Amino acid sequence: MPKKNEKKLWGGRFSQKTSKLLDEFNASISFDKRLFGDDIKGSVAHALVLEKAGILSKQETQKIISGLMTVSKEISRGKLPLTADKEDIHMAVEARLTELVGPLGGKLHTGRSRNDQIATDIRLYLKDEIKGILTLLKTLKSVIVKVAEDNIECIMPGYTHLQRAQPVLFSHHMLSYFEMLTRDEERFTGALTRTDRLPLGSGALAGSPYKLDRKYAAKMLGFSEITNNSIDAVSDRDFAIEFVSASAMLMMHLSRLSEELIIWATSEFGFIELSDAFSTGSSIMPQKKNPDIPELVRGKTARVYGNLMTLLTMMKGLPLAYNKDMQEDKEPLFDTVDTVKAVLEIMSPMLLEMKINAEKMIEATKEGFLTATDAADYLTAREMPFREAHEITGKIVAYSIKEGKTLEDLTLDEWRSFSELFDDDIKKVVTPRHSLNSRKVFGGTALTEVKKRLKQIEKEG
Ligand code: ARG
Repeated sequence: MPKKNEKKLWGGRFSQKTSKLLDEFNASISFDKRLFGDDIKGSVAHALVLEKAGILSKQETQKIISGLMTVSKEISRGKLPLTADKEDIHMAVEARLTELVGPLGGKLHTGRSRNDQIATDIRLYLKDEIKGILTLLKTLKSVIVKVAEDNIECIMPGYTHLQRAQPVLFSHHMLSYFEMLTRDEERFTGALTRTDRLPLGSGALAGSPYKLDRKYAAKMLGFSEITNNSIDAVSDRDFAIEFVSASAMLMMHLSRLSEELIIWATSEFGFIELSDAFSTGSSIMPQKKNPDIPELVRGKTARVYGNLMTLLTMMKGLPLAYNKDMQEDKEPLFDTVDTVKAVLEIMSPMLLEMKINAEKMIEATKEGFLTATDAADYLTAREMPFREAHEITGKIVAYSIKEGKTLEDLTLDEWRSFSELFDDDIKKVVTPRHSLNSRKVFGGTALTEVKKRLKQIEKEG
């Protein structure tokens, strides 16, 4: 006769010992041990709910809670071996609790399943992490504002198709990232709201026959709401997917910024220099200073996208309610949290220490006829139809290229040879500063507008 399985907490209906291969394959403890603090918090709340329901006596509850505290201490001190035979963090905690308090430990799981337990743990964990990420994001946004303020009048070429297009303020360009990050913040805040709902009490899927006061549990655990449907509660991972999706969007924005920093740091552009503290050298070429950080941010964006795809794909074919596939949610989720935190942490000081080369930027606005639109607008203001004005200005540009001149170099006679409408003031109109300051529309790059936006940002705090 095969020996009855003695080790497993769920081993009652089994007559044979599980295969070692199964133990390894099935186990999630190597990664879900990260949730031990949340698991214990959830268990303490559940014990108190059981007490309120009259299932545990006051004494039993206290004994269980102090046992859980001991387990918590043991795990944080690395004294409890968390090996694959323990399967997952829930089993490891319960097994050790039972060693400490005896069969009473087995009462804790009354009215609870690992399905509502894990859903509770992840939500507790993620709520904290989203709050931390929101704080880091706030810091990064304030760094961007500082970089914009410190260089408020610095002029650079704005690009479309990576071709010089029109002069803009560098501060305006930087503040465009502020807007992106603000939308990211909104997305994380939305994800937090939907994470902030307690599934505990949903049991395996159908709810619990015991009189569990779910609202009492929510209050103890700091949840704003309780979930409405037990089947949904144990099989929903939307909140995690939403978080990873918001992270993917944030990474996309930070990757675009990184790409610009990498381009700007080239000798071809020379718009910025990253500080030595945030650059690396080459092992063979002594002259090199490499922008490894923005490159890694750009690279790490790929893994966050991958994590999002993993979670969406993992969930797409699952019938209700819980399926073991869902154990695969943790690594992509944890990896996303770690990646986003590390990226946000390093971006802020890197940007703060970055040197802006204002001369190089303004120099780059001199060539490339960036103010050609302004010359056309000049004619339009004198009632020439825009298409005609565009055509004439095109000819002026072609002429200047042939003569090796910039628009600012042209004499009034040269301007007038193309149209009698040009007067002396055209020379001022085609300067980069005049060009950008004329763009006073709300949200435009004029200094007055950028200053207004900065004031507003300061007010919003
Ligand atoms: N380790 C599992 C997970 O992460 C816990 C839930 C297990 N539930 C179950 N019915 N086997 O998803």
